[in-house]
Amino acid sequence: MKSKIAGTGYYVPEEVVTNFDLEKIIDTSDAWIQERTGIKERRFAKKGEETTSTMGAAAARMAIHNAGIETEEVDFIIMATLSPDYYFPGAGVLVQRELGLQKKEVGALDIRTQCTGFIYALSVADQFIRGGMYKNILVIGSEMHSMGMDMTTRGRGISVIFGDGAGAVVLQAVGDEEKSGILSSNLHANGDFAEELAMVSPGSHAGYHEKNPAKYGAEGASVYDSVFITPEVVENGLYFPYMNGQLVFKNAVIKFTQTINEALAKTGKTKEDIDMLIPHQANLRISQFIQKRMGLRDDQVWNNIQRYGNTTAASIPIALAEAVQNEAIQRGDLVCLSAFGSGFTWGSVLLNY
Ligand code: COA
Repeated sequence: MKSKIAGTGYYVPEEVVTNFDLEKIIDTSDAWIQERTGIKERRFAKKGEETTSTMGAAAARMAIHNAGIETEEVDFIIMATLSPDYYFPGAGVLVQRELGLQKKEVGALDIRTQCTGFIYALSVADQFIRGGMYKNILVIGSEMHSMGMDMTTRGRGISVIFGDGAGAVVLQAVGDEEKSGILSSNLHANGDFAEELAMVSPGSHAGYHEKNPAKYGAEGASVYDSVFITPEVVENGLYFPYMNGQLVFKNAVIKFTQTINEALAKTGKTKEDIDMLIPHQANLRISQFIQKRMGLRDDQVWNNIQRYGNTTAASIPIALAEAVQNEAIQRGDLVCLSAFGSGFTWGSVLLNY
């Protein structure tokens, strides 16, 4: 038994937010954003009407349709996101309910490895299928970053980069004779960099990792005190994401390349064999750096960050679904998916589409 991507799907909200729109509310410019990141516009979800799980379900419906199966044939859900509807339960059960799959009581697993979320999710799904446990697994990446970014000049280093959207695939059990299938998946992490790209509050840490409980309003707190959301956390905007952009950039270009080469080495393939590289859409400059370093042609790399910004766990499945829709990927093509992000986490999946 091995697993193949039977169908792909994506959903992006209607509302287009251009760099010029951001210029009106943040001290930034279209030129700065495009020069540093390649981004021209992104989508923001309609608050109160769309959520991470509704977008995930929309992408899932398209993936199920394209896989040519009925929703009821899905026997497991894996959902990757860093921007869930609720703190708990995870968004997996909400997608399950949106799709009507609660009637079947199929399992729903949430993955929390941020930008690398879809790579981890796909790898976990692949192991379940190889182990013979499930036949059709819905693997989803969905993000609603616009739910909680600092849309003032203070947050401009982050807020101009991220966008909302969702992508999904149906991963299906097939026999060894099938030409399509996942060949290798590679997962890595290094917790030394946990705070370099993070949203630390609300949470249980109460300043522990920074050795600074006062900053989070937890100095002298008793065991009975709630430290989840304190006035200090709210007043100081500590619930917004933080990113050490230059450190992320430096590590990303190294790790992306390493993990792509790792996938090729494990399977006896070379970079010339790659029909399509789909890097996590972190930053166009990062993707161009990897492309150059690996000596890949323009038609071997899929980029859509210009239109959607960085959609974290959703970026790879959106790009994959778009590339399939545009017939830039054909059945049997060698496709490499690769990601790097918060954690730090990084990894790759090499597959025959
Ligand atoms: N508009 C205008 N100016 C901005 C800005 C914005 N949106 N954001 C930051 N700046 C300013 C800074 O305040 C700083 O000004 P100063 O020199 O007067 O202090 C200047 O631009 C340079 O800031 P810096 O953070 O050093 O910029 P940079 O060249 O590193 O670019 C990133 C910032 C975020 C674009 C870049 O570091 C990057 O792409 N990193 C990787 C991020 C990434 O891919 N994250 C996702 C990983 S999954």
